[in-house]
Amino acid sequence: MADDVQDQADESAESSEATIAVHWREEGYYPPPPKFIGQANASDPAILNRFAEENFPECFREYADLLHWDKYWDTTLDTSNAPFWRWFVGGKLNVSYNCVDRHLAADRNKAALIWVGEPEDEADVVITYQELYRRVNEFAAVLRDLGLQAGDRVTLHMPMVPELPVTMLACARLGVVHSQVFAGFSGGACGGRIADSGSKVLITMDAYYRSGDLLDHKVKADEAVEAARKEGQEVDKVLVWRRYAGQYSAKTPMVEGRDVFVDELLADHKGAVVEPVSLDATAPLFLMYTSGTTGRPKGCQHSTGGYLSYVAGTSKFYQDIHPDDTYWCMADIGWITGHSYIVYGPLALGTTTVLYEGTPNYPDAGRPWRIAERLGVTIFHTSPTAIRMLRKVGPDEPAKYNYHFKAMTTVGEPIEPEVYRWYFNKVGKGEAIITDTWWQTETGGFIGTGLPALFPMKPGSCGPAALGIYLDILDENGESIPKGSGKAGNIVARAPWPGIFQTIWGQPDRFVSTYFAKYNKDPDSTDWHDWPYFAGDGAVQAADGYFRILGRVDDVINVAGHRLGTKELESSALRVEEVAEAAAVPVVDDVRGRMVEMYVALKPGYTANAEVEAKVKEAIETDIGKIARPKNIWIVPDMPKTRSGKIMRRVIAATSNFSDVGDITTLANPEVVEKIRQQVQGAKHAKGEVPRELTETEEAEIKSFGAEA
Ligand code: WTA
Repeated sequence: MADDVQDQADESAESSEATIAVHWREEGYYPPPPKFIGQANASDPAILNRFAEENFPECFREYADLLHWDKYWDTTLDTSNAPFWRWFVGGKLNVSYNCVDRHLAADRNKAALIWVGEPEDEADVVITYQELYRRVNEFAAVLRDLGLQAGDRVTLHMPMVPELPVTMLACARLGVVHSQVFAGFSGGACGGRIADSGSKVLITMDAYYRSGDLLDHKVKADEAVEAARKEGQEVDKVLVWRRYAGQYSAKTPMVEGRDVFVDELLADHKGAVVEPVSLDATAPLFLMYTSGTTGRPKGCQHSTGGYLSYVAGTSKFYQDIHPDDTYWCMADIGWITGHSYIVYGPLALGTTTVLYEGTPNYPDAGRPWRIAERLGVTIFHTSPTAIRMLRKVGPDEPAKYNYHFKAMTTVGEPIEPEVYRWYFNKVGKGEAIITDTWWQTETGGFIGTGLPALFPMKPGSCGPAALGIYLDILDENGESIPKGSGKAGNIVARAPWPGIFQTIWGQPDRFVSTYFAKYNKDPDSTDWHDWPYFAGDGAVQAADGYFRILGRVDDVINVAGHRLGTKELESSALRVEEVAEAAAVPVVDDVRGRMVEMYVALKPGYTANAEVEAKVKEAIETDIGKIARPKNIWIVPDMPKTRSGKIMRRVIAATSNFSDVGDITTLANPEVVEKIRQQVQGAKHAKGEVPRELTETEEAEIKSFGAEA
């Protein structure tokens, strides 16, 4: 074993930074059960031919035809302004009509949404399609009354409540572009996104439950408005939904003239019907902010026709959603997963989608399985972090409940084979297929994943490319790395697809430079073949064509499936008076995948103490949110630096993870490395925080961390 590890280390040291040699034990296949195949939406291999490259881009008609079009499109894919792809040009449609109105004729009394609040004694809220239609129309009337029109941006900072999809669909009805910010983000982070998007209206809720506490959420709206103002953006109106009708569950006072309770506005619009606005397929539907390598988050702009087609198609074929399923994606609508696979995909298909307000293990680790049993959930989608956590705190819980999933999916992080097996055997009871889905905020929907009835599952791999997606792995020179070579590189999508984001809001140059410049050789080309999409993930392709995602190649840390930019974290820490330098690095964590560790060096004249540490922690929570709270903050005498003054993040990352710091001869101050090691690892030993030995993939990630900076 030790020899093995040494061989691998030698080999990877020989290869370039992107082309890391990866050896891993091939996991066995799990074939889909015949019962699943019998009922699957895609069980005939002919579908693979329909989506083969020679049929691109017309193959995506099959997805778009799942929708109702007010006007059919003329051009399936317009590449004239590459890489700003335009799908279904000339087509017109409305997303709210597609997700609500068109299901009324046959399914008005069917549940569209079932909301489960966190307190277990609270009744579910079941919203039929008819009721959803009523709520969406009435709230659209409210928004219209405020003067909002197609193309205006509105920021939402809402928790997991049924009012959130209602708000999104009401915006979509008018063509108002929503930008939902994850409720766990701080007011400050929300304010930055309000300013970036130019929103004049903020929609929020007074309070929500999280791990048993009713949190005051309205306070964040006040902070957000203030933060936006500092960046020059005034918010005229804050619309506040109420967690409990008729009562105010927050302590923060309402601001006269600015803050309004939504239920009071709705009272004036009882029974209102708002015609869905027929929008261009290329009109923006929403913005979703995500982290990148600079401090400024990226507002990924998604389209109306392309996006909805793509999430409808992938929900149908990969999640295998049928209209009579009870489908539960245990994620938060504040992330892309919730937009695509709690709200838009499932509702476009007219199924029943479940929303859960709280934490999965509240009040105990049996909660998800009780919900699944009570509601008769048939399809379950969640993240490896949630699975790891539930496995840790309640490994035997699933067996106590009588539910039966036919399909399960996972998203957001690589899933370790061991965790996968628990998911399959215990959660799925050996009856359900598991589809691992690789994708990103930018991609709108799944792009690396196998059709569940046609491709056997292999733990740890996301499978082949999705229908109509042509994935490849390129080395630093843009050469394709052959499958089965055991070499990793940068995963790219060679062609566009309807779900891809249209641009970064307000930063078109960054859109091109971040995602396309790396492998584009001719910036004037209008041929899509010249514009591979650079996803920013390292990956390796096995001989069977399955991809295994290794993680980010940039300085983004994936905490519990959520991307945090190191620059954002560092600039937060640098706000603290005493701090001269800051560096954020990932530390491997058995439940959350990765956590952040922050290293800071102080300005001359200051001494390290707990107060500085607390200030750094607080700055990060204020600017980003609790999700980004570092596992540890290390105040070090100096940062390891190159002679040109660049902080060597890989050295401190290796220190935090007890791995090999590698070559430090190019450092200006190599002596500091040992000092930091003693300080950090000594403290970790004392706290009982010594991590397990890293896997080779983790080792490779830590070794190359910060290479992009
Ligand atoms: C990672 C979440 C391994 C990847 C939908 C990607 C994954 C980033 C997987 C996007 C998967 C996502 N296996 N890694 N199945 N899915 N990732 O934008 O690094 O929040 O680039 O979108 O998560 O995160 P985002």
